[in-house]
Amino acid sequence: MGQKRAQFLPYALPFIEQEEIDEVIGTLKSGWLSTGPKVREFEEKFQLLTGAKHAIAVNSCTAALFLALKARGIGAGDEVITTPLTFCATANTIIHTGAAPIFVDIDPATLNIDTEQIEAAITPHTKAIVPVHFAGQSCDMDRILTIAKKYDLFVLEDAAHALYTTYHDQPIGSIGDATAFSFYATKNIATGEGGMLTTNDDALAARMRRLALHGMSKGAWNRYGEKGTWYYEVEEPGYKMNMFDVQASLGLVQLSRLDDMQARREQMAKMYHDAFQKKAGLILPPVHQEGRHAWHLYVLQVDQAKAGITRDEMIDQLQKEYKIGTSVHFIPIHLHLYYKTTYNYSPDDFPHSLTYYERTLSLPLYPSMTDEDVQDVITAVLSILTEKKAGS
Ligand SMILES: Cc1ncc(COP(=O)(O)O)c(C=O)c1O
Repeated sequence: MGQKRAQFLPYALPFIEQEEIDEVIGTLKSGWLSTGPKVREFEEKFQLLTGAKHAIAVNSCTAALFLALKARGIGAGDEVITTPLTFCATANTIIHTGAAPIFVDIDPATLNIDTEQIEAAITPHTKAIVPVHFAGQSCDMDRILTIAKKYDLFVLEDAAHALYTTYHDQPIGSIGDATAFSFYATKNIATGEGGMLTTNDDALAARMRRLALHGMSKGAWNRYGEKGTWYYEVEEPGYKMNMFDVQASLGLVQLSRLDDMQARREQMAKMYHDAFQKKAGLILPPVHQEGRHAWHLYVLQVDQAKAGITRDEMIDQLQKEYKIGTSVHFIPIHLHLYYKTTYNYSPDDFPHSLTYYERTLSLPLYPSMTDEDVQDVITAVLSILTEKKAGS
């Protein structure tokens, strides 16, 4: 048995340093807590990073997904195509608009939506495609945009994992009609909770911004700031999904360290790759050459037939014997109680998602991990496999 850790290694931790703390304190002392100058600055930096014409900061990626669909007018009677291999927010937000999610299985070679199967799922009710850039690698956007053009569909990218990802040389955020990012605590940059919408479409941007704040013609900064004026109108009944300045101050510092944090993620992913690539029973995360990988997740698959151990046993032993936390991304949507019963799905309706789910675990991968932490994970995974072989 490999060396055990004295301390538990969590599956994920945000990387908060003194700079973030100072920036947040500065904002707290500034007298402006709600949506104001820090949010605007964060949006501007995000526009530069993604190359998008507009960036609208909101309180989560879930809010961003919902707002984009609403702003496009998607609702009851409509259908929206997405992947079952995603977090529930992708599908829940479709349902919240009144539309129905239609799932298309993944391509096991990329773990992203299988673009060869999309056209077969299109009906006269289809209004949008929501591709998810799983784990930090881009979907085949050329193919998706071609299909969308042919059937006049809205393309909303779920880029919760894909800040820093490129498709060929183009940053995610400036490709589809709209893109939704997440700054949840475990994401590549974290504001605790938070999200961003990007688009190049002026009218869509204006509507998304308005819907994020009650449908008002003006936010607080434009009413209570030095140059503001008090009058506003409610142009349509909107929601309350705006980001506030404390979140944006965290985001600004995190964004300034993004290159370094990404370099570290890549380094750690390489350490895992080098250690696991020749090991029978392990399937490495696919890496395709169509752009830059953001390495949000390191998803390892355990092939029970060759490893002699199930994914669940691997997770259990890592946690209990080696004090290493892991996660699973994701329980495919069609297996969840609500979806299973409402839409009458059976597990093998999406066989590739099911097989992948049964084998996968996500290893810890975050910039504050040391090389020793990474080595502990490697040693633990390899020891568990070796012990199993010796014992079987
Ligand atoms: C693929 C995907 N989409 C959407 C979300 C929702 O993000 P948020 O928590 O910012 O609402 C997540 C969060 O984990 C996610 O992984």
